[in-house]
Amino acid sequence: MSLINRKLEHVEICLYEDVQGVISTLLEDVTLVHQAMPRLSLRDVDTRAVFLGKTLTLPLMVTGMTGGHPELGKVNGIIAQVVEEIGIAMGVGSQRVAIERPETAESFRITRKMAPTAPLIANLGLPQVTRGYGIKQFKDAVQMIEADAIAVHLNPAQELFQPEGEPEYPLSALETLRDISRELNVPIIIKESGTGISIETARLLSEYGFKTLDVSGQGGTSWIAVEMVRNKRKGNWKYRSSQLFAGWGIPTAASIIEARYAVPDSYIIGSGGIRTGLDVAKSIALGANIAGMANPVLFNAVKGKTQLKSFFEEIGFQLKAAMLLSGSKDIGSLRKAPLVIWGKLREWMESRGLTLSVYESIRKGA
Ligand SMILES: Cc1cc2nc3c(=O)[nH]c(=O)nc-3n(C[C@H](O)[C@H](O)[C@H](O)COP(=O)(O)O)c2cc1C
Repeated sequence: MSLINRKLEHVEICLYEDVQGVISTLLEDVTLVHQAMPRLSLRDVDTRAVFLGKTLTLPLMVTGMTGGHPELGKVNGIIAQVVEEIGIAMGVGSQRVAIERPETAESFRITRKMAPTAPLIANLGLPQVTRGYGIKQFKDAVQMIEADAIAVHLNPAQELFQPEGEPEYPLSALETLRDISRELNVPIIIKESGTGISIETARLLSEYGFKTLDVSGQGGTSWIAVEMVRNKRKGNWKYRSSQLFAGWGIPTAASIIEARYAVPDSYIIGSGGIRTGLDVAKSIALGANIAGMANPVLFNAVKGKTQLKSFFEEIGFQLKAAMLLSGSKDIGSLRKAPLVIWGKLREWMESRGLTLSVYESIRKGA
């Protein structure tokens, strides 16, 4: 199957099949403590955050999704217009298709045309580095959208259960990526794709100099479930195994904690199942610098620009509400806001040897 058709099928499955929330993000086990006297008015709440040297009006990015086909170029164009108007960041989907089929590059280029000032993030996968991509392809991807950074995705789980997939993740790929990063004039973000980053992985990445991490944990779009649907349609033998593993991964709340604990001075994008402004607030209070969202953005973007804009406005209001009610005047205060961690998330921390008091000092110091 061509890369273009596979991307179209992925988008169609994400829009119309049940591949969301196979397990929970565990954000429901985080409570921001209510402050009856917040010492703030709503208009004083400042939601700005700095990302890649630019100021966002909301601590939010749209994580990479699409491109490679004219219809997907339209979706990218709508998202880009709205992120520019709202003042948030945007990533594009994997540009491998445009590197291999340059005639599809316009569906990515449109983002910079529509969003001249927003932080834009290019996208390639680590498996492409294993298979020979080097500085040239990285520079091409960055130049294509005049990107402020490039995200390199790790998706071993998805590749494993893909009918046509075979994950290739040797350590040498990370070594090559480190060499690429030294020659590239924009930062590299390492992102997962819905199964989360652990303490061990975050430490390894940091040893190679990669400290900007998009955790993309479990609880939102399950890419194993997406491949499960494809396996079912194709009558592929991997169907039952993908069903078994559909909930595999680190829940987003746990992954934010793991990454922050492993590398206290990292820049963390908390993503995977972020669906509301309250989720954004909880992610940041737990240890993320900003939050990221994919599927809901696609879902609203296909309904048009007005719909997508009002979706983000609602997210903004919900975030402000959580900030006001937790007495957090800005994102810096939200990161130190009093919170309670209970239930499964607390058990997760305990079984990983993370005491609440140690984590509390890391989170407040970060
Ligand atoms: C339709 C769609 C296509 C995606 N394509 C890519 C991609 O090309 N590269 C990538 O790094 N992540 C890709 N992702 C993964 C997202 O960036 C994100 O990490 C993941 O979906 C979890 O976020 P969510 O629960 O908000 O959807 C895609 C997600 C969606 C919904």
